[in-house]
Amino acid sequence: MLELGRLEDLPLAYRQELTQSNLVPLWPSLRGVLPPNIPTRHTQATYWAYQTIRPLLLEAGELTPIEKAERRVLVLANPGHGLEKMQATAAMYLGMQLLLPGEWAPSHRHTPNAVRMIVEGEGAYTTVDGIKCPMKRGDLILTPTGLWHEHGHDGTEPVVWLDVLDLPLMYYMEASYHINGDQQTVLSHQKDSTGIRSGLAPTTVFQRSNTAYPMLRYAWMDAKASLESIAIQHPDQECVQITYVNPETGNDAENILGFYALMLRPGQILRLPARSPAQVFHQIEGSVTATIQDQTFTLVEADTCCAPGYEAVTLKNVNPEQAAFLFIADETPLHRKLGVYENRG
Ligand SMILES: [Fe+2]
Repeated sequence: MLELGRLEDLPLAYRQELTQSNLVPLWPSLRGVLPPNIPTRHTQATYWAYQTIRPLLLEAGELTPIEKAERRVLVLANPGHGLEKMQATAAMYLGMQLLLPGEWAPSHRHTPNAVRMIVEGEGAYTTVDGIKCPMKRGDLILTPTGLWHEHGHDGTEPVVWLDVLDLPLMYYMEASYHINGDQQTVLSHQKDSTGIRSGLAPTTVFQRSNTAYPMLRYAWMDAKASLESIAIQHPDQECVQITYVNPETGNDAENILGFYALMLRPGQILRLPARSPAQVFHQIEGSVTATIQDQTFTLVEADTCCAPGYEAVTLKNVNPEQAAFLFIADETPLHRKLGVYENRG
């Protein structure tokens, strides 16, 4: 490939004149922003052990009262982007959030889309646009763009969840902001989603839901049952996976990020192809190894890791007798909407 001219090849006076005129020569940076075959990726394969996060998060509970934090979160930051950027990948933010018994995280809404994957504890709830969603281990709760949400805790033990947001993308777009609100009035309670899992949509006098987000809570009990049922009914199917979708449209549950659950059969090795979106793996049950580029991470329950886009990932269930279950978040809906989605096989 032809070597392009460098910045230092240009006379100093010329460079200074460009700078004073807010001009930049393209050719010294062209290969950096438009490299051959594969993009420049700042996202590094990174692993966060829950065993490391948990005591530090509980310490934050002692150091900083909820009133001083609003959201008591330790951000899982990717060193490839610089920790201060608080991003796991180009478009994904990950935060481990702690709510102690009796605490309340006040109502707000914002432009970034969020979900939370419940990691531990019982008795907490999230109220989303008036719908009270109980939080249990493995449940996925949506707080899509613009919807009011607040968190409360009536239980006796600390509750921890993993927040996944498209905050880095919204911030990059200069479209990230929030509005604080008053405590919401609970209009209804969202219970388990058993009917929807079976392809049965709630209907009232022949009227289906006309809200953009008809389902806000995806119970782990249902997701796990779906995976186990697929595994039994399709014993030869290598990849036992489900996508969290909007049950009315069949589209992805949210606009920018995609959410999935994956089951690995006992001892199974699964090679996921190199695809353009970056992805995040969070262990719900069991234990796997994840090999990404030249690194292998061992994930036990509640551990999290991320992989840059355009890289294959090999997952191995380390237990020869029990299934392993992973929650996956990725940038697929964003890539598809932008027309840049690739599966390189
Ligand atoms: Fe929020």
